[in-house]
Amino acid sequence: MKTIIEPFRIKVVEPIRMTTGGERERILRDAGFNPFLIHADDVLIDLLTDSGTGAMSSLQWSGVMRGDESYAGARSWFALEAKVRELTGFEHILPTHQGRASERILFELLGGPGKVVPNNNHFDTTRANVEHSGAQAVDLVIEEGRHPRSRHPFKGNMDLARLEALLEAEGTKAGSREGAERGARRSDEGTKTRNDEHNAAAAPRLRARVPLVMCTITNNSGGGQPVSLENLRGVRALCDRYGVPFFLDACRFAENAYFIKLREPGQQNRSVREIVREIFDLADGATISAKKDGLVNIGGLLLIRDKELMRRADELLILTEGYVTYGGLAGRDLEAMAQGFEEVVHEDYLQYRIRSTAYLGEKLLAAGIQIVEPPGGHAIYIDAAAFCPHIPPAQFPGQALVCGLYRHAGIRAVEIGSVMFGGPGRPPPAMELVRLAIPRRVYTQSHIDYVVEAIIELYGQRDRLRGLEIIEQPPTLRHFTARFREL
Ligand SMILES: Cc1ncc(COP(=O)(O)O)c(C=O)c1O
Repeated sequence: MKTIIEPFRIKVVEPIRMTTGGERERILRDAGFNPFLIHADDVLIDLLTDSGTGAMSSLQWSGVMRGDESYAGARSWFALEAKVRELTGFEHILPTHQGRASERILFELLGGPGKVVPNNNHFDTTRANVEHSGAQAVDLVIEEGRHPRSRHPFKGNMDLARLEALLEAEGTKAGSREGAERGARRSDEGTKTRNDEHNAAAAPRLRARVPLVMCTITNNSGGGQPVSLENLRGVRALCDRYGVPFFLDACRFAENAYFIKLREPGQQNRSVREIVREIFDLADGATISAKKDGLVNIGGLLLIRDKELMRRADELLILTEGYVTYGGLAGRDLEAMAQGFEEVVHEDYLQYRIRSTAYLGEKLLAAGIQIVEPPGGHAIYIDAAAFCPHIPPAQFPGQALVCGLYRHAGIRAVEIGSVMFGGPGRPPPAMELVRLAIPRRVYTQSHIDYVVEAIIELYGQRDRLRGLEIIEQPPTLRHFTARFREL
């Protein structure tokens, strides 16, 4: 059979409140042409984010009733710990209330002024936490990852040559005679030379400048694009050579593993679980927002191999999140997460998930609408500059498209362009995009067909879309609360 069906039946439904075009016009104006300021009840199809917006399964909901709310040593914590150990092989696991809490703890421990943190692309909260610590966040995604039309199968890959150059340069600044800080974790231990000993001694000096290398799977800021296993192995090898820890931002680890199974030569006969395990085996630690591939509405994890670092993370967790067996979550949340991490590696689920996102992308491409190609795992990104070429970046083409989508069909999406990344003193972003993020297990194919039809109709009338001007904005993260006027 060619048709891929939703691998679930619907047991509970949540009504969508229908609105008329006239109502939406008033709602949009009242919200200052910023869909973040619209009440969710006034939205027909909400594609603002895939984070924490998914539907839980009947087993997760029954887990909610089983949740053990004991302060310390709750049964639900041990269920989650066992599931995450089984999937990732990590011994030391900390629960947090969401991904950015894990990031805050990690960068409080490892960040700091004068340090540099490379990543393929930092997600915005990761970058904010790196910078908040005083360190510099550097993005090193491959060149193909910066071009919407490139169809490279792993556009999230790290540029290994640029990563090596960065480690070399920082090694030189750190004062090593040879520049590079090689040898700390070399596999050829048996053939240690005096030079290796010198390099092993120099590795801590490099770590004082580059405390870790990160890689985001899948690469959200770069279009939800995956990273190949070969590339992750390459990052690991460089980290070994230079003696620097390697951490994953692993929010969408299962979607990334499924792309590896689909696209990477030699991976087709492995199970997603095996691939997931190999990905985590390559890392020294990971931050995870469980609101994505944990299939829950709230929750996060911090995984760390190093015992001493974990001990310090425990202290910070207790200080600001909660005790180490609940980390700011209720027992019922832990129970739902344990079940979510089991369900997310089911391959019929992942086939449906990746295929349904691609379905939306392919329909838009077939209608001549430019998106970031190939379709990513959790979202489709429309090239708003190509959609409305008559609107210059200074008049926010992405925001014009987001407003047009709401006005025309009650669909909520998010601008990822000059509104989100621009502003006084900031360079203009490389792309003007609109992200249609797909919540997990929430919308059916006919909802997506409705979205496709709406976007194609809007494309037919695109010259009617109007640019905008900002009339009110906060000093930071302006996209959440800015108000606009139509030109
Ligand atoms: C790649 C990535 N990292 C980190 C985060 C932060 O997670 P949270 O929203 O749970 O704090 C997100 C959330 O969207 C993300 O997509």
